[in-house]
Amino acid sequence: MALTQMKHLNLNLKKNERIGVDYIKGILQPTPTCDIWDEIWNFQAKPDDLLISTYPKAGTTWTQEIVDMIQNDGNIEKCKRAPTHLRFAFVEWKIPSLPSGVEQANAMPSPRKLKTHLPIQLLPPSFLEKGCKIIYVARNAKDILVSYYHFQKMNAVLPDPGTWEEYFEDFLDGKVCWGSWYDHVKGWWEAKDKYPILYLFYEDMKENPKHEIQKIMEFMGKNLDEDALDKIIYHTSFDIMKKNPMANYTTIPGEIMDHSVSPFMRKGTVGDWKNYFTVAQNERFNEIYKEKMADTTLPFSIDD
Ligand code: A3P
Repeated sequence: MALTQMKHLNLNLKKNERIGVDYIKGILQPTPTCDIWDEIWNFQAKPDDLLISTYPKAGTTWTQEIVDMIQNDGNIEKCKRAPTHLRFAFVEWKIPSLPSGVEQANAMPSPRKLKTHLPIQLLPPSFLEKGCKIIYVARNAKDILVSYYHFQKMNAVLPDPGTWEEYFEDFLDGKVCWGSWYDHVKGWWEAKDKYPILYLFYEDMKENPKHEIQKIMEFMGKNLDEDALDKIIYHTSFDIMKKNPMANYTTIPGEIMDHSVSPFMRKGTVGDWKNYFTVAQNERFNEIYKEKMADTTLPFSIDD
């Protein structure tokens, strides 16, 4: 989709109106995605596709920038050729009057770079059948909740989150787009032992970006020198990405993303939930978390 096309986008949404949502196999999705679900489910992956998969707000954009930088051998100018959403096709994405993620992917030269937020059971089967490499990034649920709440406030193509209290309950119930965080991280965690999936954590990327970028590099089969690696660490740091229009979503029309409500590059930290959760909410969250995560070996700490 050309950037100029985006600038003149008219979603015909009235002020404060949002795109609707519906269910696909029990998972909440924006209605335009539901409308073309067959096309998405039948998407034909290619063996050399690289897919980044995340629950929303887990550090997708950050990982996309890292992957593009690695693929372009640390060449910053090449990575500034287009905004993130044009460099990576968002498989299940659809906005009325614009090409779908599937159409965008089909028009891309190989090797293609793709993104999805789908839980493993909704991933178009061809990705696993073709043995595509997949990078999955997980982030702790409490920070996701806070980040997702702010994102839904500023993004007209997702539902209005309502009050913080309402959103808190919706999130716990999995009544948010792309469904339950618990099921998402657990489903992909199980899949990683059967398929070529590199499972990473946002918190590890924050703590030791060099180490995690090296892991991604090895997974992609690239071997860059220290100089290129240093460039990638710098260029993909929060402060630099926040200023980069090709990575901070400011090229999206304000009608869709209103950065004055909450910037896409909001804080980029671990533990921001402590500024939002009440003591009672934290206790309730911890109780439910224990129950829902009892059947997994996923190594998350919920108090960080
Ligand atoms: P916050 O809202 O907590 O700040 P996604 O790309 O999956 O939508 O995730 C967005 C979240 O990742 C936002 O979190 C955003 O600030 C954070 N983020 C984006 N780029 C980052 C970077 N380079 N380093 C750390 N966090 C980053």
